[in-house]
Amino acid sequence: MALELVLLFVMGIISLLIFTRRVLFHTHRVQHLPPSPFAFPIIGHFHLLSPLIHRSFQSLSLRFGPIFSLRLGSVPCIVVTSAELAKEFLKTHELSFVSRVHNTAIERITYDSSLAFSPYGAYWKFIKKVTVNELLSSRSVSKFHSIRADEYSRLLRLFAERAKSCLAVNLSEELPRLCHNVIGQMMLGKYSTAVASNTERAEEARLVVREATRIFGELNLCDFNMVCKKLDLQGFGKRIEDTHVKFDELVEKVVNEREQLRIKNNNKIKGGEEDEKEVKDFLSILLDMLEDESSESVEVGFSRVHIKAVITDLFTASTDTTAIAMEWALAELINHPTVLEKAREEIDSVVGNGRIVEESDCPSLPYIQAIIKETFRLHPPVPMVARISVEDCKVGKYVIPKNTMLFVNNWAIGRDPKNWEKPLEFWPERFLEHIGGAQTSGMDVRGQHFQYLPFGTGRRICPGINLTMKMVPSLVAAMIQCFDWKVIPSKKMNNDDVVQMDEKPGLTTPRAHDLVCSPVARFNLLNILKP
Ligand code: HEM
Ligand SMILES: *[C@@H]1O[C@H](CO)[C@@H](O)[C@H](O)[C@H]1NC(C)=O
Ligand SMILES: *[C@@H]1O[C@H](CO)[C@@H](O)[C@H](O)[C@H]1NC(C)=O
Repeated sequence: MALELVLLFVMGIISLLIFTRRVLFHTHRVQHLPPSPFAFPIIGHFHLLSPLIHRSFQSLSLRFGPIFSLRLGSVPCIVVTSAELAKEFLKTHELSFVSRVHNTAIERITYDSSLAFSPYGAYWKFIKKVTVNELLSSRSVSKFHSIRADEYSRLLRLFAERAKSCLAVNLSEELPRLCHNVIGQMMLGKYSTAVASNTERAEEARLVVREATRIFGELNLCDFNMVCKKLDLQGFGKRIEDTHVKFDELVEKVVNEREQLRIKNNNKIKGGEEDEKEVKDFLSILLDMLEDESSESVEVGFSRVHIKAVITDLFTASTDTTAIAMEWALAELINHPTVLEKAREEIDSVVGNGRIVEESDCPSLPYIQAIIKETFRLHPPVPMVARISVEDCKVGKYVIPKNTMLFVNNWAIGRDPKNWEKPLEFWPERFLEHIGGAQTSGMDVRGQHFQYLPFGTGRRICPGINLTMKMVPSLVAAMIQCFDWKVIPSKKMNNDDVVQMDEKPGLTTPRAHDLVCSPVARFNLLNILKP
């Protein structure tokens, strides 16, 4: 790390000399970009960024205003920190900012044909439509309901067993595992947890997904700078390649096995035997499309690589984000006992105590919904909406050139006293009718309110909203309905029963401290749960 910094510094000095000469001997261009702090040549404004980029951007916005520009290495960026400007860029000028920033890591690991990072065009429209229709629309999400119900039961059972023997649970391990298993089975088919090879593979897959998500998250210095690209300072190239190879082997195996199975089954069906009662998973539907030569899929050149890409993509987009949201919600509830009590009262009065909260109860649990919304406000798992301009674009008095990165800092907008009463307080009531006031009470997470964009907005809004808003409220509700959660203080903490709320750097905002808790059963759960 130190060596990298020294190198950067030396390069900085050299180019500073070149740069000052240029400034002295050339007329300066007309300034169209938003205000900008002092920049070093080559590294640009990297020196202003701490690992928690959304926080650095917030402090810069306090000095330079709700819109300012930066140069990260050679890449120009603008950072937006107000609801009005968020609307201006993401709605009024939506089509100018409709593509997403991507880097070499992402290209390699997602075969450069992913859903999340494809440019806005025919392929993106096609794969987005397929993914929403067959996997993420309300109807499809309901279709896969039993997969989730089984996974919730499995997890609650684990908690109940730990409670019985007074053992702690590492929620930072178990919640991502659950999310991974849910999305994995929705895409690739239901696996019986009794089949060891499948659980082993699920575990292997989970670790690769985690590594890929991590790589995406680390701001890849080299991507911003041609000079660095050659030096590969961070040893990124090898890690990217390793992860790509591991991921590819895994997905390839899954797809290949399925293709074999289809050939076998096809013969079987022709032979008169038929047992096709199971819900068709996403992979089957994608393979159907590959075979269907009359469909739209031919026009966009849909291929086997695309199947692997979209699977990889959805794994990395869903697992961490959803688990992080659950963790933050639970941590806030543990730190706010009155909110927790009120939530339990709501659950008891709506669900009673004869059964466990289910996804279908969530529409009748407005306070739980408000808790989840408040969690997304203070702890948006994706702290910034990141896009890139696809053309030169005039926004207000500024001219934004093509290929400028746009960051809309949701995290900061969600904590801005201009938009929110008591902004730093965890106060779910703000989202309730008759309490929160006209401005915030009717707000939802679907990208209509520009002071609150946890899932983004417009054409590139997160397609996982329907799934997330079923999973997160119902599982969090079940966890507090069934258990009290005792915090296990870590060595670094001095406070006994309060959960530390620091963030860890990355593309998402995970908790810095693992959430390790002891569940204490509130009733005998093992009798209620199906085995
Ligand atoms: C707490 C959970 C989640 C949060 C906070 C979240 C947040 C986001 C955000 C902020 C974006 C960018 C939107 C924009 O640029 O306007 C996004 C995109 C995306 N998300 Fe999510 N997400 C979550 C869960 C999921 C899940 C469960 C899935 C899939 C199963 C998913 C799949 C995607 C995909 C594919 C994109 C790219 C869409 C495109 O480019 O067209 N996300 N998400
Ligand atoms: C959620 O489901 C509804 C109903 O199926 C659908 O219209 C909507 O597009 C879905 N939302 C997203 C973001 O996919
Ligand atoms: C909890 O799980 C996380 C993620 O797997 C791991 O990094 C961490 O070491 C675990 N913490 C404890 C205390 O077991």
